[in-house]
Amino acid sequence: MSEQSRHRPAKPYRRPKKDPVRILAFEALRAVDERDAYANLVLPPLLKKAREKDDFDGRDAALATELVYGTLRRQGTYDAIIAACIDRPLREVDPPVLDVLALGAHQLLGTRIPTHAAVSASVELARVVLGDGRAKFVNAVLRKISQHDLDAWLERVAPPYEEDAEDHLAVVHSHPRWVVSALWDSLGGGRADVEDLLEADNERPEVTLVARPGRSTTAELLDVLGEDSALPGRWSPYAVRLIEGGEPGAIEAVREGRAGVQDEGSQLVAVALANAPLAGSDERWLDGCAGPGGKAALLGALAAERGASLLASEKQPHRARLVERALAGNPGPYQVIAADGTRPPWREGAFDRVLVDVPCSGLGALRRRPEARWRRRPEDLEGFAPLQRGLLREALKAVRVGGVVGYATCSPHLAETRIVVDDVLRGRGGPAARAEWVDARPLMPGVPALGDGPDVQLWPHLHGTDAMYLALLRRTA
Ligand SMILES: C[S@@+](CC[C@H](N)C(=O)[O-])C[C@H]1O[C@@H](n2cnc3c(N)ncnc32)[C@H](O)[C@@H]1O
Repeated sequence: MSEQSRHRPAKPYRRPKKDPVRILAFEALRAVDERDAYANLVLPPLLKKAREKDDFDGRDAALATELVYGTLRRQGTYDAIIAACIDRPLREVDPPVLDVLALGAHQLLGTRIPTHAAVSASVELARVVLGDGRAKFVNAVLRKISQHDLDAWLERVAPPYEEDAEDHLAVVHSHPRWVVSALWDSLGGGRADVEDLLEADNERPEVTLVARPGRSTTAELLDVLGEDSALPGRWSPYAVRLIEGGEPGAIEAVREGRAGVQDEGSQLVAVALANAPLAGSDERWLDGCAGPGGKAALLGALAAERGASLLASEKQPHRARLVERALAGNPGPYQVIAADGTRPPWREGAFDRVLVDVPCSGLGALRRRPEARWRRRPEDLEGFAPLQRGLLREALKAVRVGGVVGYATCSPHLAETRIVVDDVLRGRGGPAARAEWVDARPLMPGVPALGDGPDVQLWPHLHGTDAMYLALLRRTA
């Protein structure tokens, strides 16, 4: 063997190719990981900055968004697959390396990007952000991942359903096991039902607009948007659904606050409370947990139509300012205050209708916050429990005898929904005004699959909404 063939000449150094889409996606994942940032807050300024440069267009922005959201949503699945491809525990891999690997895994297993492009783009990214040494590791791992498609990987890494159903679903549908368990408890039903729900959590939600009554109409919004860009809502008389790619900020009615972005489930909750039957006066409405103001803005508009006024109260002053902004231009009387709903400044029995949309785990909005499922801990629920009960107790005091309280959460977890209401009605943990259930189901006409009542649980896979919960209670004494 000649000297030359024994010592292969080193390859000439080539600078890594900088791919702005993947670098941006990596930066967003790092911010979510390191700073506990929210993807939906981190991404827009990064995209805006990138779009100010000529070489980053709308398609790049869409791809970067898909890479970040998809990687975060499917993180549980990808972690299990990456763990099967390396010979040390995942926690010993540096987080930036894991982020590059997860981004690569998503391109290989969750998009239509061809295998060679997914691997080479990820290795180039690794060279830029991690250095050449670690890029080799990334290359080796991604080559292993690329040997199978997603289904084949799930066969290998998920425990069999028959052995451990919740663990199986956790890996296959990328949710923490305790979340699978809690959602299943609340949903009931069999394997197919819970699988539909878990998959719905992994879908990007539609953008839904609300035409605030008296200020704009769905016809106006549909007209402006055109039939290729929007559809009427499924359930709420005020809803318009944007078809893929619609930009709410471009709509004048939204910019002017006559319309807004609001999930249909959130609209249904406000509308149901507003329409709950009431004998006697119906002049004073309260939203006791109003920030940032989505439901308050709809309630304010509905109150104005009836000649009623709205007090919108929110504990955090900066969120109270968002409520101010949401209600600006409301056609009827309203006031916004910063106040603690568990030690309220209003007198007992002052209101005819009261909404408390209490702080909660947000397990009903996992579609919107791709990182949330990995951040939440079961212990968080213990933190919310006394606050949720305290706010409901005070809401029942705030309403007059015969008046109606709506208790809402954006979580279907039983510990935040029915159990809270039952506890308060039974006087557990402190005396409460006496109240009886009002059946919320007839107040959501046309909405199917609302269960046995009297409370209502909406579901992403059944209704296309966030998993909002609503209990309606009438004060009796
Ligand atoms: C789920 S959010 C309400 C969302 C709002 N209803 C909407 O549709 O835009 C719960 C709100 O309650 C506020 N909050 C938390 N503790 C509170 C308290 N003790 N009194 C009043 N508001 C509180 C939070 O700051 C948060 O803005």
